Amino acid sequence: MTSPRPQVVALDGPAGSGKSTVAKQLAQRLGWAHLDTGAMYRAVTWQAMQRGIPPGDGAAVAALAEAAHIELDPGTGRVTIDGADVTAPIRTQAVDAGVSVVAAIAEVRRVMRRHQRAFASRVGRVVAEGRDMGTRVFPDAILKVFLVATVEERVRRRVAELRAKGAGVDPEAVRKALVERDRQDASRDEDPLRPAGDAVEVDTTGRTPAQVVDQILALVTSRVLPSETA
Ligand code: DC
Repeated sequence: MTSPRPQVVALDGPAGSGKSTVAKQLAQRLGWAHLDTGAMYRAVTWQAMQRGIPPGDGAAVAALAEAAHIELDPGTGRVTIDGADVTAPIRTQAVDAGVSVVAAIAEVRRVMRRHQRAFASRVGRVVAEGRDMGTRVFPDAILKVFLVATVEERVRRRVAELRAKGAGVDPEAVRKALVERDRQDASRDEDPLRPAGDAVEVDTTGRTPAQVVDQILALVTSRVLPSETA
């Protein structure tokens, strides 16, 4: 029987800290759903750009977010907004450049929070990744992890990811964009990027995703009954 209160593992951290890979693999190993909340902010940003709305137009973007129907497939990670499959287009450098501005809009965050909590209640058990999972959206998470890695390592990962997609990449431009996105995410008024007081910090620098997942898995199993993780 699914408990009325969702069980959540909250994974937060800056861009390139390894959240997505780790969250996906951890969810798979646990047999829990995966919630990529960055994808939701990206989908809103993509739709605003499609409609010619500047990311800084708070009122217009908030209205768009309120009206939009965003779906995240907990199994495949496919992302749709109003029926359009945006799984690939939300990962472009253009969306990277606008998403922190959109994510700083309080009203957009309120709408996203509502969707994120509804998703968790629907699926029951979830590995949720983002910036404010432990601090704001799921303060009762059974485990809060804050992932970190050096800037060099985070840039290297992002460059590899973009190159794998065939994009032309200037590593220095990637570094600047990443540092700027962190600055914006950490300095905004609304739910800035920071570890929750009760979060466990995990450094992913120089480690494989499997090593990090094993470490987190051990923390999860120490906090829930072994029979509940199967
Ligand atoms: O994890 P990501 O790079 O896909 O996130 C995209 C942006 O969305 C990121 O720059 C900050 C924002 N974000 C947020 O503010 N809160 C979240 N819970 C998730 C992402």
